Amino acid sequence: MISLSVSRSRPLSGEIRVPGDKSISHRALLLGAIADGNSEITGFLPCNDCLATLACVRALGIEVERHDETSLVVHGKGRHGLLPPDAPLNCARSGTAMRLLIGTLAGQPFDSVLTGDPQLLRRPMARVIEPLSKMGARIETEDVHTPLTVRGNGLHGITYEMPVASAQVKSAILLATLYADFPTTVRQPAPTRDHTERMLAAMGAKIATNSDSVTIAPSALSAVSISIPGDFSSAAFAIVATTIVRGSNITLREVGINPTRTGLHDVLSAMGASVAVEGFRNAGNEPVADLRVQSAHLHAVEIEGDTVVRMIDEFPILAVAATQAEGTTIVRDAAELRVKETDRIATVAEELTKLGAHIKPTPDGYVVQGPTPLHGAAVSSHGDHRLAMALVVAGLVADGTTQIDNIGCVNDSFPGFVGLMRAIGGQHD
Ligand code: S3P
Repeated sequence: MISLSVSRSRPLSGEIRVPGDKSISHRALLLGAIADGNSEITGFLPCNDCLATLACVRALGIEVERHDETSLVVHGKGRHGLLPPDAPLNCARSGTAMRLLIGTLAGQPFDSVLTGDPQLLRRPMARVIEPLSKMGARIETEDVHTPLTVRGNGLHGITYEMPVASAQVKSAILLATLYADFPTTVRQPAPTRDHTERMLAAMGAKIATNSDSVTIAPSALSAVSISIPGDFSSAAFAIVATTIVRGSNITLREVGINPTRTGLHDVLSAMGASVAVEGFRNAGNEPVADLRVQSAHLHAVEIEGDTVVRMIDEFPILAVAATQAEGTTIVRDAAELRVKETDRIATVAEELTKLGAHIKPTPDGYVVQGPTPLHGAAVSSHGDHRLAMALVVAGLVADGTTQIDNIGCVNDSFPGFVGLMRAIGGQHD
Protein backbone atom coordinates (compact mmCIF):
# COMPACT_ATOMS: atom_id res chain seq x y z
CA MET A 1 0.00 0.00 0.00
CA ILE A 2 1.34 3.40 -0.98
CA SER A 3 2.01 6.05 1.65
CA LEU A 4 2.38 9.80 1.19
CA SER A 5 4.85 12.16 2.88
CA VAL A 6 3.65 15.70 3.49
CA SER A 7 5.62 18.64 4.82
CA ARG A 8 4.77 22.19 5.87
CA SER A 9 3.32 24.12 2.97
CA ARG A 10 4.09 27.49 1.48
CA PRO A 11 0.96 29.63 0.92
CA LEU A 12 -1.62 27.98 -1.34
CA SER A 13 -2.86 29.85 -4.39
CA GLY A 14 -4.60 29.34 -7.72
CA GLU A 15 -7.89 28.46 -9.28
CA ILE A 16 -9.20 24.89 -9.16
CA ARG A 17 -12.16 22.69 -9.97
CA VAL A 18 -12.88 19.76 -7.71
CA PRO A 19 -14.33 16.60 -9.28
CA GLY A 20 -18.07 16.02 -9.60
CA ASP A 21 -20.43 15.38 -6.70
CA LYS A 22 -20.33 11.78 -5.47
CA SER A 23 -23.93 11.59 -4.22
CA ILE A 24 -25.30 13.06 -7.46
CA SER A 25 -23.10 10.78 -9.62
CA HIS A 26 -24.50 7.62 -7.95
CA ARG A 27 -28.06 8.88 -8.37
CA ALA A 28 -27.57 9.91 -12.01
CA LEU A 29 -26.52 6.34 -12.87
CA LEU A 30 -29.24 4.58 -10.90
CA LEU A 31 -32.13 6.86 -11.81
CA GLY A 32 -30.90 7.08 -15.41
CA ALA A 33 -31.00 3.26 -15.57
CA ILE A 34 -34.69 3.07 -14.60
CA ALA A 35 -35.81 6.12 -16.60
CA ASP A 36 -37.21 5.82 -20.12
CA GLY A 37 -34.66 7.05 -22.67
CA ASN A 38 -31.07 8.28 -22.72
CA SER A 39 -29.74 10.39 -19.84
CA GLU A 40 -26.65 12.41 -20.77
CA ILE A 41 -24.43 12.99 -17.78
CA THR A 42 -21.56 15.46 -17.62
CA GLY A 43 -19.31 16.12 -14.63
CA PHE A 44 -19.57 12.46 -13.50
CA LEU A 45 -17.17 11.53 -10.69
CA PRO A 46 -14.98 8.59 -11.78
CA CYS A 47 -14.11 7.52 -8.21
CA ASN A 48 -14.06 3.93 -6.90
CA ASP A 49 -17.46 4.30 -5.20
CA CYS A 50 -19.27 5.59 -8.29
CA LEU A 51 -17.46 3.15 -10.59
CA ALA A 52 -18.87 0.37 -8.39
CA THR A 53 -22.39 1.71 -9.03
CA LEU A 54 -21.59 1.93 -12.75
CA ALA A 55 -20.53 -1.74 -12.82
CA CYS A 56 -23.68 -2.77 -10.91
CA VAL A 57 -25.95 -0.84 -13.29
CA ARG A 58 -24.27 -2.54 -16.26
CA ALA A 59 -24.62 -5.94 -14.54
CA LEU A 60 -28.37 -5.22 -14.38
CA GLY A 61 -28.47 -5.07 -18.19
CA ILE A 62 -28.15 -1.30 -18.71
CA GLU A 63 -25.88 0.03 -21.44
CA VAL A 64 -23.75 2.97 -20.28
CA GLU A 65 -21.60 4.66 -22.93
CA ARG A 66 -18.54 6.46 -21.59
CA HIS A 67 -17.48 9.29 -23.87
CA ASP A 68 -14.63 10.18 -21.53
CA GLU A 69 -13.89 9.90 -17.81
CA THR A 70 -16.64 12.34 -16.82
CA SER A 71 -19.21 12.24 -19.68
CA LEU A 72 -21.60 9.31 -20.00
CA VAL A 73 -24.86 8.35 -21.59
CA VAL A 74 -27.08 5.97 -19.64
CA HIS A 75 -29.45 4.08 -21.93
CA GLY A 76 -32.34 3.78 -19.50
CA LYS A 77 -34.84 0.97 -20.04
CA GLY A 78 -37.63 2.28 -17.83
CA ARG A 79 -38.81 1.18 -14.40
CA HIS A 80 -39.31 -2.42 -15.47
CA GLY A 81 -36.28 -2.78 -17.74
CA LEU A 82 -33.61 -4.12 -15.35
CA LEU A 83 -32.45 -7.71 -15.92
CA PRO A 84 -31.44 -10.27 -13.27
CA PRO A 85 -27.68 -10.06 -12.64
CA ASP A 86 -25.56 -13.17 -13.41
CA ALA A 87 -23.34 -12.73 -10.35
CA PRO A 88 -23.38 -10.89 -6.99
CA LEU A 89 -23.41 -7.09 -7.37
CA ASN A 90 -20.20 -5.75 -5.86
CA CYS A 91 -20.62 -2.37 -4.13
CA ALA A 92 -16.91 -2.21 -3.14
CA ARG A 93 -16.72 0.22 -0.18
CA SER A 94 -19.74 2.33 -1.09
CA GLY A 95 -22.57 2.60 1.42
CA THR A 96 -24.53 4.79 -1.00
CA ALA A 97 -24.27 2.19 -3.79
CA MET A 98 -25.43 -0.62 -1.53
CA ARG A 99 -28.31 1.18 0.20
CA LEU A 100 -29.70 2.78 -2.97
CA LEU A 101 -29.43 -0.50 -4.86
CA ILE A 102 -31.25 -2.41 -2.11
CA GLY A 103 -34.15 0.04 -2.45
CA THR A 104 -34.21 -0.22 -6.24
CA LEU A 105 -33.95 -4.01 -6.29
CA ALA A 106 -36.57 -4.67 -3.60
CA GLY A 107 -39.39 -4.20 -6.11
CA GLN A 108 -37.91 -6.14 -9.05
CA PRO A 109 -39.39 -9.45 -10.19
CA PHE A 110 -36.03 -11.23 -9.63
CA ASP A 111 -33.54 -11.94 -6.86
CA SER A 112 -30.15 -10.22 -6.49
CA VAL A 113 -27.18 -10.69 -4.19
CA LEU A 114 -25.28 -7.61 -3.00
CA THR A 115 -21.77 -7.78 -1.66
CA GLY A 116 -18.75 -5.53 -1.06
CA ASP A 117 -15.47 -5.06 0.77
CA PRO A 118 -15.29 -6.12 4.44
CA GLN A 119 -15.27 -2.39 5.38
CA LEU A 120 -18.73 -2.02 3.77
CA LEU A 121 -20.14 -5.31 5.08
CA ARG A 122 -19.45 -4.08 8.62
CA ARG A 123 -21.77 -1.08 8.17
CA PRO A 124 -25.40 -1.10 9.38
CA MET A 125 -27.91 -2.26 6.77
CA ALA A 126 -30.80 -2.95 9.19
CA ARG A 127 -31.73 0.72 8.84
CA VAL A 128 -32.79 0.09 5.20
CA ILE A 129 -33.96 -3.49 5.65
CA GLU A 130 -36.47 -2.52 8.36
CA PRO A 131 -38.52 0.08 6.39
CA LEU A 132 -38.26 -1.89 3.14
CA SER A 133 -39.52 -5.01 4.93
CA LYS A 134 -42.50 -2.97 6.14
CA MET A 135 -43.16 -2.28 2.44
CA GLY A 136 -43.16 -6.04 1.78
CA ALA A 137 -39.55 -6.47 0.66
CA ARG A 138 -37.80 -9.76 1.37
CA ILE A 139 -34.16 -9.14 2.25
CA GLU A 140 -32.04 -11.89 3.76
CA THR A 141 -28.66 -11.76 5.50
CA GLU A 142 -26.93 -14.62 7.30
CA ASP A 143 -25.23 -12.23 9.65
CA VAL A 144 -24.13 -8.63 9.42
CA HIS A 145 -20.79 -9.40 7.75
CA THR A 146 -22.05 -11.41 4.79
CA PRO A 147 -23.55 -10.57 1.41
CA LEU A 148 -27.24 -9.87 1.37
CA THR A 149 -29.96 -11.29 -0.85
CA VAL A 150 -32.81 -9.09 -2.07
CA ARG A 151 -35.72 -11.25 -3.24
CA GLY A 152 -37.98 -9.42 -5.64
CA ASN A 153 -41.51 -8.94 -4.31
CA GLY A 154 -44.62 -6.76 -4.64
CA LEU A 155 -44.28 -3.62 -2.47
CA HIS A 156 -46.75 -1.39 -0.63
CA GLY A 157 -46.53 2.32 0.12
CA ILE A 158 -45.95 3.17 3.80
CA THR A 159 -45.69 6.11 6.17
CA TYR A 160 -42.31 5.91 7.83
CA GLU A 161 -40.69 7.90 10.60
CA MET A 162 -36.91 7.55 10.15
CA PRO A 163 -35.15 7.02 13.50
CA VAL A 164 -31.84 8.33 12.07
CA ALA A 165 -31.35 11.28 9.73
CA SER A 166 -30.03 9.43 6.67
CA ALA A 167 -30.28 10.44 3.02
CA GLN A 168 -29.34 6.92 2.01
CA VAL A 169 -32.24 5.36 3.94
CA LYS A 170 -34.66 8.02 2.68
CA SER A 171 -33.49 7.45 -0.91
CA ALA A 172 -33.79 3.66 -0.67
CA ILE A 173 -37.43 4.03 0.45
CA LEU A 174 -38.23 6.58 -2.28
CA LEU A 175 -36.72 4.36 -4.98
CA ALA A 176 -38.60 1.30 -3.71
CA THR A 177 -41.87 3.26 -3.79
CA LEU A 178 -41.50 3.71 -7.56
CA TYR A 179 -42.43 -0.02 -7.62
CA ALA A 180 -45.15 0.06 -4.93
CA ASP A 181 -48.94 0.04 -5.14
CA PHE A 182 -49.53 3.25 -3.15
CA PRO A 183 -47.62 6.43 -2.21
CA THR A 184 -45.11 6.57 0.64
CA THR A 185 -44.41 9.38 3.10
CA VAL A 186 -41.00 9.49 4.81
CA ARG A 187 -40.52 11.79 7.80
CA GLN A 188 -36.97 12.69 8.75
CA PRO A 189 -35.70 13.88 12.14
CA ALA A 190 -33.58 16.56 10.40
CA PRO A 191 -33.27 17.64 6.76
CA THR A 192 -30.82 15.34 4.94
CA ARG A 193 -29.32 15.87 1.47
CA ASP A 194 -32.12 16.08 -1.09
CA HIS A 195 -30.37 15.18 -4.36
CA THR A 196 -32.65 12.15 -4.90
CA GLU A 197 -35.82 14.24 -4.57
CA ARG A 198 -34.48 16.91 -6.94
CA MET A 199 -33.52 14.36 -9.59
CA LEU A 200 -36.75 12.37 -9.24
CA ALA A 201 -38.77 15.59 -9.66
CA ALA A 202 -36.74 16.55 -12.76
CA MET A 203 -37.45 13.09 -14.21
CA GLY A 204 -41.19 13.57 -13.75
CA ALA A 205 -41.87 11.57 -10.57
CA LYS A 206 -44.92 12.56 -8.51
CA ILE A 207 -43.07 13.81 -5.46
CA ALA A 208 -43.78 16.52 -2.88
CA THR A 209 -41.37 17.71 -0.21
CA ASN A 210 -41.62 19.91 2.83
CA SER A 211 -39.23 20.70 5.68
CA ASP A 212 -39.62 17.39 7.52
CA SER A 213 -41.18 14.94 5.06
CA VAL A 214 -41.25 13.66 1.49
CA THR A 215 -44.20 12.00 -0.23
CA ILE A 216 -43.78 10.08 -3.45
CA ALA A 217 -46.26 8.15 -5.57
CA PRO A 218 -45.33 5.16 -7.75
CA SER A 219 -44.21 6.88 -10.97
CA ALA A 220 -42.49 6.30 -14.29
CA LEU A 221 -39.34 8.38 -14.94
CA SER A 222 -38.19 10.15 -18.10
CA ALA A 223 -34.52 10.58 -19.02
CA VAL A 224 -32.95 14.05 -18.53
CA SER A 225 -29.56 15.66 -19.10
CA ILE A 226 -27.65 15.96 -15.85
CA SER A 227 -24.76 18.37 -15.35
CA ILE A 228 -23.06 17.46 -12.07
CA PRO A 229 -21.39 20.27 -10.07
CA GLY A 230 -18.16 19.96 -8.05
CA ASP A 231 -18.54 18.10 -4.76
CA PHE A 232 -18.72 20.44 -1.76
CA SER A 233 -17.41 17.60 0.44
CA SER A 234 -14.27 17.41 -1.72
CA ALA A 235 -13.97 21.20 -1.87
CA ALA A 236 -14.00 21.14 1.96
CA PHE A 237 -10.38 19.89 2.06
CA ALA A 238 -9.08 22.73 -0.11
CA ILE A 239 -11.24 25.25 1.79
CA VAL A 240 -9.82 24.25 5.18
CA ALA A 241 -6.25 23.96 3.82
CA THR A 242 -6.47 27.49 2.41
CA THR A 243 -7.98 28.79 5.64
CA ILE A 244 -5.24 27.41 7.91
CA VAL A 245 -2.10 27.77 5.72
CA ARG A 246 -1.18 31.42 6.30
CA GLY A 247 -1.11 33.79 3.31
CA SER A 248 -3.21 31.48 1.09
CA ASN A 249 -5.81 32.51 -1.44
CA ILE A 250 -7.64 30.16 -3.84
CA THR A 251 -10.76 30.12 -5.98
CA LEU A 252 -12.83 26.96 -6.45
CA ARG A 253 -14.97 27.01 -9.59
CA GLU A 254 -18.42 25.40 -9.99
CA VAL A 255 -18.96 23.90 -6.56
CA GLY A 256 -22.39 22.53 -5.62
CA ILE A 257 -23.82 24.58 -2.76
CA ASN A 258 -27.05 22.71 -2.10
CA PRO A 259 -27.98 23.99 1.40
CA THR A 260 -28.42 20.43 2.68
CA ARG A 261 -24.65 20.00 2.15
CA THR A 262 -23.03 23.29 3.16
CA GLY A 263 -23.08 23.13 6.96
CA LEU A 264 -19.27 23.39 6.96
CA HIS A 265 -19.46 26.73 5.17
CA ASP A 266 -21.73 28.11 7.89
CA VAL A 267 -19.55 26.69 10.66
CA LEU A 268 -16.27 27.97 9.18
CA SER A 269 -17.84 31.39 8.64
CA ALA A 270 -18.88 31.46 12.31
CA MET A 271 -15.28 30.52 13.20
CA GLY A 272 -13.99 33.58 11.29
CA ALA A 273 -13.05 31.97 7.95
CA SER A 274 -13.16 33.97 4.72
CA VAL A 275 -15.16 31.96 2.14
CA ALA A 276 -16.94 34.24 -0.35
CA VAL A 277 -19.72 32.70 -2.47
CA GLU A 278 -19.69 34.28 -5.94
CA GLY A 279 -21.51 33.81 -9.23
CA PHE A 280 -24.46 31.91 -7.74
CA ARG A 281 -26.43 30.05 -10.43
CA ASN A 282 -28.53 26.92 -10.93
CA ALA A 283 -27.08 24.07 -12.97
CA GLY A 284 -29.92 21.69 -13.72
CA ASN A 285 -31.64 21.20 -10.42
CA GLU A 286 -28.76 22.06 -8.14
CA PRO A 287 -27.37 25.42 -6.95
CA VAL A 288 -23.74 26.09 -7.93
CA ALA A 289 -21.23 28.88 -7.19
CA ASP A 290 -17.55 29.80 -7.20
CA LEU A 291 -15.91 29.97 -3.78
CA ARG A 292 -13.10 32.46 -3.05
CA VAL A 293 -11.17 31.46 0.06
CA GLN A 294 -8.48 33.36 1.96
CA SER A 295 -6.57 32.28 5.03
CA ALA A 296 -7.97 33.54 8.32
CA HIS A 297 -7.55 33.37 12.05
CA LEU A 298 -10.14 30.93 13.46
CA HIS A 299 -11.89 30.78 16.79
CA ALA A 300 -13.72 27.81 18.30
CA VAL A 301 -17.47 27.17 18.04
CA GLU A 302 -19.94 24.54 19.24
CA ILE A 303 -21.73 22.39 16.64
CA GLU A 304 -24.90 20.36 17.22
CA GLY A 305 -28.40 19.56 15.95
CA ASP A 306 -29.42 19.97 12.29
CA THR A 307 -26.07 21.53 11.32
CA VAL A 308 -24.41 18.17 12.00
CA VAL A 309 -26.55 16.49 9.30
CA ARG A 310 -25.71 19.27 6.80
CA MET A 311 -21.98 18.54 7.19
CA ILE A 312 -22.00 14.85 8.13
CA ASP A 313 -18.99 13.99 5.92
CA GLU A 314 -16.91 17.02 7.00
CA PHE A 315 -16.06 16.11 10.62
CA PRO A 316 -12.57 14.72 9.88
CA ILE A 317 -11.54 17.98 8.17
CA LEU A 318 -13.39 20.17 10.68
CA ALA A 319 -11.29 18.57 13.43
CA VAL A 320 -8.14 19.71 11.61
CA ALA A 321 -9.49 23.28 11.39
CA ALA A 322 -10.38 23.12 15.10
CA THR A 323 -6.76 22.29 16.05
CA GLN A 324 -5.81 25.72 14.65
CA ALA A 325 -8.75 27.63 16.20
CA GLU A 326 -8.52 29.63 19.40
CA GLY A 327 -10.59 28.00 22.17
CA THR A 328 -12.60 24.81 22.65
CA THR A 329 -14.49 23.40 19.68
CA ILE A 330 -17.26 21.02 20.75
CA VAL A 331 -19.17 18.67 18.41
CA ARG A 332 -22.36 17.03 19.75
CA ASP A 333 -25.23 14.97 18.25
CA ALA A 334 -22.85 13.30 15.78
CA ALA A 335 -22.95 9.65 16.91
CA GLU A 336 -23.60 8.73 13.23
CA LEU A 337 -19.89 9.32 12.67
CA ARG A 338 -19.28 6.00 14.44
CA VAL A 339 -20.85 4.04 11.52
CA LYS A 340 -19.21 5.77 8.56
CA GLU A 341 -16.32 4.24 6.53
CA THR A 342 -14.59 3.97 9.93
CA ASP A 343 -15.67 5.00 13.43
CA ARG A 344 -14.70 8.57 12.60
CA ILE A 345 -14.90 9.77 16.20
CA ALA A 346 -12.31 7.20 17.26
CA THR A 347 -10.05 7.27 14.19
CA VAL A 348 -9.93 11.08 13.82
CA ALA A 349 -9.08 11.50 17.52
CA GLU A 350 -6.49 8.71 17.43
CA GLU A 351 -4.63 10.00 14.37
CA LEU A 352 -4.72 13.74 15.13
CA THR A 353 -3.43 12.99 18.64
CA LYS A 354 -0.32 11.47 16.99
CA LEU A 355 0.28 14.88 15.34
CA GLY A 356 0.06 16.66 18.72
CA ALA A 357 -3.60 17.76 18.60
CA HIS A 358 -5.57 18.08 21.82
CA ILE A 359 -8.68 16.16 20.79
CA LYS A 360 -10.92 14.06 23.04
CA PRO A 361 -13.52 11.69 21.61
CA THR A 362 -16.97 11.75 23.25
CA PRO A 363 -19.84 9.29 22.69
CA ASP A 364 -21.46 11.60 20.12
CA GLY A 365 -18.67 13.85 18.87
CA TYR A 366 -15.36 15.34 19.94
CA VAL A 367 -13.81 18.23 21.83
CA VAL A 368 -10.74 20.01 20.45
CA GLN A 369 -8.62 22.50 22.36
CA GLY A 370 -6.70 24.95 20.16
CA PRO A 371 -4.67 26.44 18.74
CA THR A 372 -2.00 23.74 18.75
CA PRO A 373 1.25 23.63 16.77
CA LEU A 374 1.14 20.23 15.05
CA HIS A 375 4.23 18.08 14.48
CA GLY A 376 4.81 15.50 11.76
CA ALA A 377 4.40 11.78 12.58
CA ALA A 378 3.52 8.49 10.92
CA VAL A 379 -0.28 8.26 10.80
CA SER A 380 -2.86 5.86 9.41
CA SER A 381 -5.77 6.52 7.07
CA HIS A 382 -7.46 3.32 8.35
CA GLY A 383 -8.51 2.96 4.68
CA ASP A 384 -10.94 5.89 5.13
CA HIS A 385 -10.71 8.39 2.25
CA ARG A 386 -11.90 11.42 4.22
CA LEU A 387 -9.58 10.71 7.14
CA ALA A 388 -6.66 10.32 4.68
CA MET A 389 -7.37 13.72 3.09
CA ALA A 390 -7.86 15.41 6.46
CA LEU A 391 -4.44 14.09 7.56
CA VAL A 392 -2.82 15.44 4.38
CA VAL A 393 -4.23 18.89 5.20
CA ALA A 394 -3.02 18.60 8.82
CA GLY A 395 0.44 17.76 7.45
CA LEU A 396 0.49 21.06 5.53
CA VAL A 397 0.60 23.00 8.83
CA ALA A 398 2.73 20.51 10.82
CA ASP A 399 6.47 20.81 11.51
CA GLY A 400 8.57 18.07 9.95
CA THR A 401 7.18 15.24 7.86
CA THR A 402 3.77 13.64 8.16
CA GLN A 403 3.61 10.19 6.62
CA ILE A 404 0.13 8.90 5.78
CA ASP A 405 -0.25 5.19 5.04
CA ASN A 406 -2.67 3.68 2.50
CA ILE A 407 -3.23 6.98 0.72
CA GLY A 408 -4.77 5.14 -2.26
CA CYS A 409 -8.16 5.17 -0.50
CA VAL A 410 -8.58 8.85 -1.50
CA ASN A 411 -9.68 7.43 -4.86
CA ASP A 412 -12.88 6.22 -3.19
CA SER A 413 -14.19 9.80 -3.49
CA PHE A 414 -11.53 12.18 -4.85
CA PRO A 415 -9.30 10.91 -7.65
CA GLY A 416 -6.61 13.51 -8.32
CA PHE A 417 -6.65 14.90 -4.76
CA VAL A 418 -2.88 14.72 -4.27
CA GLY A 419 -2.14 16.27 -7.67
CA LEU A 420 -4.64 19.06 -7.08
CA MET A 421 -3.16 19.93 -3.68
CA ARG A 422 0.30 19.94 -5.26
CA ALA A 423 -0.95 22.24 -8.02
CA ILE A 424 -2.06 24.86 -5.50
CA GLY A 425 1.25 24.65 -3.65
CA GLY A 426 0.82 22.02 -0.93
CA GLN A 427 4.16 20.28 -0.31
CA HIS A 428 4.34 16.53 -0.61
CA ASP A 429 6.63 13.92 -2.19
C1 S3P B 1 -24.81 10.05 1.29
C2 S3P B 1 -25.42 10.27 2.49
C3 S3P B 1 -24.69 10.34 3.77
C4 S3P B 1 -23.19 10.57 3.56
C5 S3P B 1 -22.62 9.71 2.47
C6 S3P B 1 -23.34 9.94 1.15
C7 S3P B 1 -25.65 9.96 0.08
O1 S3P B 1 -24.85 9.11 4.44
O2 S3P B 1 -22.50 10.36 4.76
O3 S3P B 1 -21.24 10.00 2.29
O4 S3P B 1 -25.12 9.99 -1.04
O5 S3P B 1 -26.88 9.84 0.24
P1 S3P B 1 -26.15 8.82 5.37
O6 S3P B 1 -27.32 9.02 4.53
O7 S3P B 1 -26.02 7.41 5.84
O8 S3P B 1 -26.02 9.81 6.49
